[in-house]
Amino acid sequence: MTGPAATVTPPGMRGFHTIAVMPNVVLYCADPLRPRAVDSHFAAEARRARELGGTVALVDHDALTRGDATAAVARVPKDTGPVWYRGWMVSAERYAALDAALRERGTRLATTPAMYRTAHELPGWYEVLASVTPESAWFAMEPGARPSTADVMAVAATLPPGAAVVKDHVKSRKHEPDAFHIADLAAAGDVHAVVTRFAERQGTDLAGGIVLRAWEPFRGAESRVWWVDGVPVATGPHPDADGDPEPPALDALRELVPRLDCRFVTTDVVRHADGRTRLVELGDGQVSDHPRDRDPTPLLTALLAA
Ligand SMILES: Nc1ncnc2c1ncn2[C@@H]1O[C@H](COP(=O)(O)OP(=O)(O)O)[C@@H](O)[C@H]1O
Ligand SMILES: [Mg+2]
Repeated sequence: MTGPAATVTPPGMRGFHTIAVMPNVVLYCADPLRPRAVDSHFAAEARRARELGGTVALVDHDALTRGDATAAVARVPKDTGPVWYRGWMVSAERYAALDAALRERGTRLATTPAMYRTAHELPGWYEVLASVTPESAWFAMEPGARPSTADVMAVAATLPPGAAVVKDHVKSRKHEPDAFHIADLAAAGDVHAVVTRFAERQGTDLAGGIVLRAWEPFRGAESRVWWVDGVPVATGPHPDADGDPEPPALDALRELVPRLDCRFVTTDVVRHADGRTRLVELGDGQVSDHPRDRDPTPLLTALLAA
């Protein structure tokens, strides 16, 4: 499936040494029932990646999530240059295992496991982006554990008074208000009840711990901005948004996103009632959903050129 590596000699260096320009490989999740086909969720994007000159390879996401990273990459060509992943979310631990398995095959992920954790988990990016996102505080917790009122209220006490939302290091249960929205951070019984429902429903999927975030009045639909090497390369509506948001002002993010030292991220942004652009969350671009009714060409062009 892989194309040959081209060799380019830069001007002025002829006869001196050569630089290998490797093919741009994108790993997509395979269809669980047809292991030689791209998962239908990503098929159109993968087709476009091929048309743009990329090489598409397949990973077995089920094998990866059950802990068999070696089997997950069995179909990835050996000895290619760094590769991008575009697929379903994986934990930071599984992502590190994916990278290790690829290294066994003479390749690696362009986004290192450390970069992935920074972008994928709120505590990884929060400090750099604190000035543009709702105030947040967290405590670590194992999946399946019951949060204590003391732990919850110690964190709640560090936030401004008022309403809040709860999530783990990666996801919320935003469609279940009774496990998401906290009306008043001072009401210990309610705060603990919302957090407990959230933790119970996350079950073994709970990622990292409990995060509380001060509620802010947002207006209008969320946009998703895609960044490659610190530069915004594509903007569109968030996959869950109804309607087309107006293009967000990105001045503050243009300065801050490069400081993350992550190669490929998304910022979900929305307008605050006071007019400022606010960051709802950062994500690793490899596992951020691209709306299927939007043309992925700008994003893929930037990725394949990076
Ligand atoms: N601090 C906040 N104040 C107000 N609304 C919020 C806040 N944080 C999140 N939301 C709303 O909840 C939704 C889900 O939050 P988000 O952090 O994006 O979780 P998820 O990872 O589950 O998408 C957001 O799209 C936004 O509409
Ligand atoms: Mg979100």
